[in-house]
Amino acid sequence: MSEPMRYTITAALPYTNGPIHIGHLAGVYVPADIYARYQRLQGKDVVFVCGSDEHGVAIPMKAKKEGVSAKSLIDKYHRMIKDSFEDFGITFDNYSRTSAEIHHQTAGDFFVRLYNQGDFLEETTAQLYDEEAQQFLADRFVTGTCPNCGYEEAYGDQCENCGTSLNATELINPKSTLSGAKPALRETKHWFLPLGRYEDFLNEWILKGHKADWKPNVYGQCKSWIEAGLKPRAVTRDLDWGIPVPVDGAEGKVLYVWFDAPIGYISSTKEWADREERDWEPYWKDKDSKLLHFIGKDNIVFHCIIFPSMLKAHGEYILPDNVPANEFLNLEGNKLSTSKNWAVWLHEYLDEFTGMQDVLRYVLTANAPESKDNDFTWKDFQARNNNELVAIFGNFINRVVVLSHKYFDGIVPEPEEFKTIDEETLGQLREFPEIISDRLERYRFREASQELMNMARLGNKYLAEQEPWKVIKEDEGRVKTILYIALQIASGLAICSDPLLPFTAKKLRSMLGLKTHPSTPKTKLPEGRTLHWDDIQKPKALIPAGHQLEKAELLFRKIEDKEVQAQLDKLEATRRLNETEKKSVMPQKETISFEDFSKIDMRVGTILEAEKMPKTKKLMVLKVDTGLDQRTIVSGIAESFSPEEIIGRKVTVLVNLAPRPLRGVDSEGMILMTENKDGKLVFLNPDEEDIDNGETIS
Ligand code: MF3
Ligand code: ZN
Repeated sequence: MSEPMRYTITAALPYTNGPIHIGHLAGVYVPADIYARYQRLQGKDVVFVCGSDEHGVAIPMKAKKEGVSAKSLIDKYHRMIKDSFEDFGITFDNYSRTSAEIHHQTAGDFFVRLYNQGDFLEETTAQLYDEEAQQFLADRFVTGTCPNCGYEEAYGDQCENCGTSLNATELINPKSTLSGAKPALRETKHWFLPLGRYEDFLNEWILKGHKADWKPNVYGQCKSWIEAGLKPRAVTRDLDWGIPVPVDGAEGKVLYVWFDAPIGYISSTKEWADREERDWEPYWKDKDSKLLHFIGKDNIVFHCIIFPSMLKAHGEYILPDNVPANEFLNLEGNKLSTSKNWAVWLHEYLDEFTGMQDVLRYVLTANAPESKDNDFTWKDFQARNNNELVAIFGNFINRVVVLSHKYFDGIVPEPEEFKTIDEETLGQLREFPEIISDRLERYRFREASQELMNMARLGNKYLAEQEPWKVIKEDEGRVKTILYIALQIASGLAICSDPLLPFTAKKLRSMLGLKTHPSTPKTKLPEGRTLHWDDIQKPKALIPAGHQLEKAELLFRKIEDKEVQAQLDKLEATRRLNETEKKSVMPQKETISFEDFSKIDMRVGTILEAEKMPKTKKLMVLKVDTGLDQRTIVSGIAESFSPEEIIGRKVTVLVNLAPRPLRGVDSEGMILMTENKDGKLVFLNPDEEDIDNGETIS
């Protein structure tokens, strides 16, 4: 027998700086898991790997914010992420972490090999430096305007708006995220991967080789980057968090996170192979293996351009066969955000909707952001559950099983002669495996989920039309046929729902007393005859007459309005909190004594004259009647007012402030001001008519 086809399936390593939310699930983990389960079900040799991405600037930044060490931060989130994936039924063969020894070794060796082969440029160049924080700025330590699309919050290594990968020095108006300061330039040595050397290869491999089979969004992005020309990318950083660069003269430097993280797929495969006493190499080196990267759209450049160039440079590795990247999922109309807590967190969902993993899987798949960004709403979640899972799938299964128990003691009845409708229904049932396979093979998970629902619809409609609960009164023989057919559909559903609704499939199998080929890793095949995907297409019964069914259980339950409302209320509270946080109020200053306060002399005054100070942007020279005298005050209000606007205006003046020279003019006091929401200055002026100049304020 020939070896089964080998699949190496990877899912983007999540950053270990926060929990998993529905955006991660819809974009990466749910489709990857469906695909892995599906291929296992087809008897393929699958290794499905992932792990925590624990390096990069995002980690120390978040640790600082939480007031903990980077190590305890990654330990906390690694646990949390790993556990929630497991509860949710994501069937990684291995979930590793990039802080693991095996990964440091693998990534370090990878670097050294390229280094020894002369694949890097070693260059001392001027890089952005924060003088206040005394640190080089790269990646998330610096933001600025994207030179490609003009987005103002682009990071030092990538613009999240247009996906372009950047060098920090390319940002327009760069700003340190550590101190807010404008960075200086300082020389430092780094190793660069000269991507230009791989342009021909990328051209052949992607632009010529994958035009037909890669998703248009992925292909299109690759095409525009390759055509724009690829610049060298630094693969090392001046940082104290990461994998030390393992060559001489690289003290204090670590590997760039996007250099080490994708190698994490290889390390994770090695870790799995060690544990399972298998050989990892065929999964990464045998050209018959299919390597697939499941990722979100912001990761395309790294998985299609940079990592493949690294693999190519290394020389021994295969390249990805496909990179089915998804677009983004929004939540109730707004972008998902870990820092703004605008998310549905997986661990919270699992707590609040126990035993309902498949509902979330289904909704995220039915509404997956495959070709454009999509929105998750709780109303849609409820509707998909109540109108599809409960009303169609669940209702059909419940009726078949309950009626079989009621009329035939839970034994699959021997059918009588088939009518046309019976033949047609069985004919339609036999078409589904191929249709669903086709959609899954082409990464069209939305369509696959809808075809699965259509399969349940077929059964639901058949029962509704044949009305066995009425027919039973006059023709028990006919009811035998009807339930026999309906049970074949139910069995087909038990097989086909396995990759898409694995918990449901398992329950359904046990209800029907069926053994099917399981899609979970390391599960032994059940004893006796097992049903395969392809069996649905065969004329033979999936579930034979005389077979004993088990007890009926409910597959799904209705979701009530109040449950949805509770979720919406939670989001509303988050929205409010974010709004108050935005208006961050300056903390109170040190306490002063009454004596201190009484030294302050504030008076009502009137602006008599106003003139912009030449060659300045902000300053205005005012003449003010203070009731005591007429004096000159220089005030920084020129961006908020024109002179005409303010002449004659009553204002509050601090009159006993020591005079100070501003651009050669002595300023003899200060006008009291505040700022409105738009950042425009506003006078703290008393009611103009009623108060005389010189009145004191206390
Ligand atoms: N941590 C990255 C993110 O969340 C993904 C890393 S994928 C890998 O965007 F290839 F680098 F592993
Ligand atoms: Zn951009």
